Amino acid sequence: MFDTMTVTKAAGALIGALLFLLLANWAASSLYHVGSGGHGEGEEHAQAYSIEVPETEEGGGAAEEEQIDFAALMEAADPAAGEKGFGKCKACHKLDGTDGTGPHLNGVVGRDVASVGGFGYSDAMVAHAEEAPQWTPEALQEFLANPKGVVKGTKMSFAGLKKPEDRADLIAYLQSVQ
Ligand code: HEC
Repeated sequence: MFDTMTVTKAAGALIGALLFLLLANWAASSLYHVGSGGHGEGEEHAQAYSIEVPETEEGGGAAEEEQIDFAALMEAADPAAGEKGFGKCKACHKLDGTDGTGPHLNGVVGRDVASVGGFGYSDAMVAHAEEAPQWTPEALQEFLANPKGVVKGTKMSFAGLKKPEDRADLIAYLQSVQ
């Protein structure tokens, strides 16, 4: 086993070497720019540092990338994986038409928000139904990403599914459970 001193020395040496390389690199590049006056070879030098960004097939720019292409995710979604994912919801939601802590979720895709008769929805969910009346796949994917962010004050205590693929899989599964 290494003792602490050896590790400290090794780390020190490594950091020292990196710092030296960094400084040398900086010195070299500033000298180089002065020498070439920023023309010709100078431009080549600059290019050596540029990173090639492969173009996406759709030719999508940065603006498009910020939005999730949910339609494509739904096409690629795997209901079997979604069935496993539903394990996270099971504690509160059933799929047999009866309600637990949460309302039953069979048939939820396309269902009106807060529409299960006899289930005591929070005021927040009832209010949400006015803004967004239906659980479309898109509405579900937004809600499941961050339930408390989308429906502020909901009594659904669930942190959310961070991965868009997981949400698409789950929604594809729910779509199959009527
Ligand atoms: C800790 C319990 C709990 C967990 C876990 C949970 N939910 Fe819920 N869910 C609720 C409750 C309670 C409500 C009612 C919320 C309200 O009225 O504000 C709800 C509401 C919903 C609604 C709205 C239904 C309607 O009729 O408008 C959907 C959709 C939903 N949950 C999906 C899910 C999914 C999918 C999961 C798993 C990824 C999940 N929930 C996990 C408790 C839970």
